[in-house]
Amino acid sequence: MRKYLSFALAAFLFAACASSARPVEQDGTDLWLAAGRPYETVLASVQTGIDPALPAEGFHIYDKDGKRFIQAGSEAGLRYGVYALQRAEALGQAGPGMDLQEKPFYDIRLLNHWDNLDDTVERGYAGLSMWEWTATEIPEARIRHYGELCASIGLNGSVLNNVNSNPLVLDAEHIARVAKIADILREYGIKTYLSIKWTSPIALSGLKSGDPLDPKVRQWWKDKAAEIYAAIPDFGGFLVKANSEGQAGPQDYGRTHADGANMLAEALAPYGGIVMWRAFVYAPTSPDRANQAVEEFLPLDGQFADNVIIQIKNGPVDFQPREPFSPLFGRLKKTKMMVEFQVTQEYLGFSNHLAFHGTTWEECLDSDTYRDGEGSTVAKMVTAIAGVANTGQDPNFCGYVFAQANWYAYGRLAWNPELSAEQIADEWVRQTFLKPEGMKDKAFEKKFVEPVKDILMASREAVVDYEMPLGLHHLFGGTHYGPAPWERLGRPDWTPAYYHKADSAGIGFDRTRDGSGNVDQYNEPLASTFNDLETCPENLLLWFHHLPWDYKLSSGKALWDEICLHYDQGIQTVEGFRKTWQELKPYVSPALWAETDRKLTIQASDARWWRDACVGYFQTFSGRPLPADVEPLRTPIDSLIYRSIQSDRLGMPQHDEAGDPIIMMPRRFRRP
Ligand code: GCU
Repeated sequence: MRKYLSFALAAFLFAACASSARPVEQDGTDLWLAAGRPYETVLASVQTGIDPALPAEGFHIYDKDGKRFIQAGSEAGLRYGVYALQRAEALGQAGPGMDLQEKPFYDIRLLNHWDNLDDTVERGYAGLSMWEWTATEIPEARIRHYGELCASIGLNGSVLNNVNSNPLVLDAEHIARVAKIADILREYGIKTYLSIKWTSPIALSGLKSGDPLDPKVRQWWKDKAAEIYAAIPDFGGFLVKANSEGQAGPQDYGRTHADGANMLAEALAPYGGIVMWRAFVYAPTSPDRANQAVEEFLPLDGQFADNVIIQIKNGPVDFQPREPFSPLFGRLKKTKMMVEFQVTQEYLGFSNHLAFHGTTWEECLDSDTYRDGEGSTVAKMVTAIAGVANTGQDPNFCGYVFAQANWYAYGRLAWNPELSAEQIADEWVRQTFLKPEGMKDKAFEKKFVEPVKDILMASREAVVDYEMPLGLHHLFGGTHYGPAPWERLGRPDWTPAYYHKADSAGIGFDRTRDGSGNVDQYNEPLASTFNDLETCPENLLLWFHHLPWDYKLSSGKALWDEICLHYDQGIQTVEGFRKTWQELKPYVSPALWAETDRKLTIQASDARWWRDACVGYFQTFSGRPLPADVEPLRTPIDSLIYRSIQSDRLGMPQHDEAGDPIIMMPRRFRRP
């Protein structure tokens, strides 16, 4: 009885606490700086000093004689220290006796903006370009806000424009404009970089060639570098997409990637600039796209200049919801490498789906390449890091409050790749969502922080489940938003059918020694682990193997049944997020609650669309019924096949009032 009473009392107190709590109005425009004291206030509250003995971007926060000090190796380090203190305060970790000493793991920690000079953003889902290239003036207030956000998580460089670059970014008018942006970013410790187009000398100055060994071409780039550095003395360097997806490059002149990169490196070297040369290259003729980066770059290992870094996407194909790490990380030994993550959610539901990438990137960074023996993680193989930004003109920068978590997570991992996704999720929730007035810390923790953190931590796997589980990949239609597993027209390695290879016998891409041999691009013991069905991780099974529909998985269930169960699990997980979010309504500002509620409704409906399209389509090959315990398909495959979602002018998908995707008839079946 006593036990019952105390339980009842606790329940009453809890309910009373919840009911008296009033959510604080916020709209997401402060991002993760919402909860902390303003930067200037934190700075004014401490004694600061520069100590050249400390690492350049490092800091030391400590208490002495009742006072708090921040010592740093430079002004930039001091800024990071103040933000670290602000974060510690917001997280309740800044009590007396605080002693925190940090320095960044990587020297180069960049955002790559895929922003075009006409203000559109390639794979951007948060409005037009945040730099406002076409406006008369640069948007100073937004750039400052961006600078604070980047500095607060330790990012120190921005590539302002799209890798599919417009040569005009290097004309005098744009260099002057970029210099103005650079002047502001510099105040936040951020260096400015640009993506260049290989054919710039031809487009801008009428040269006849882009051959990297042609003296006129070499001189053009030297002159251009001099012009840029005259305007931006601390300019960071060039990012280059060459001989990739229709972009020209040195191979057009019979030269190698190394010839091309080294020519640019020579032009930038006198000023300390770098060349980030992308390994995202693939020719349509090679039989497995996943093999091509190693095939092209391994023979060039050791030929690149010191100020060249090869920028490698995390996986061998293209930012899929799950990929193994790119085998190139384990192969180059005499060449600097950097990893490229995609913060913007090109393949994970744009800014509509809640998909926290902390777990995706943790998985990649912690992967062992075995390059120099056990413990050669991707994090340790690379010397720099880049993330494709998810920013735009939307007042909250990212188009969705939960998309902001990915920018935050990227920055924190760039600073310290050993942080856990869970810690980052915890930090982000506490700094982003303001505790309701009248709510106790403990109650907020239990009733809000924990459930939201659980959502974040489960979210990426949910997307994998409802889009492409068990190692399936690239089942996308045109804009990369919705499913199109039926697509087989056009360039083969741009179609889902190339990747899933479903037929009446089974499904999956054979990358074993009997198939494309991709497994052998990995070092042992990984090569054999992936090659052998017994040891290949199940979450990559169909990445590496083509298997019969009745192949038995570790659960004892047939592959077909497991595929269906995973799709169903994805839907159920998102339904779980929706239920939790309903319960969180008393603690979140109405604006943020409504935004997330609408997006989760869309996500749940999209998850069903994905399941209906993929399971329905694969069923035409497997000829098997759905397992008894999964939700039946909502839409028959005949009503989905060859159809896609209606999108607006900027490629943003359209949903109806109920949050259901507006599915269009294929053009060829529409009435004139
Ligand atoms: C993907 C993406 C393109 C992008 C390319 C790249 O293919 O869909 O929009 O240009 O990656 O990274 O270069």
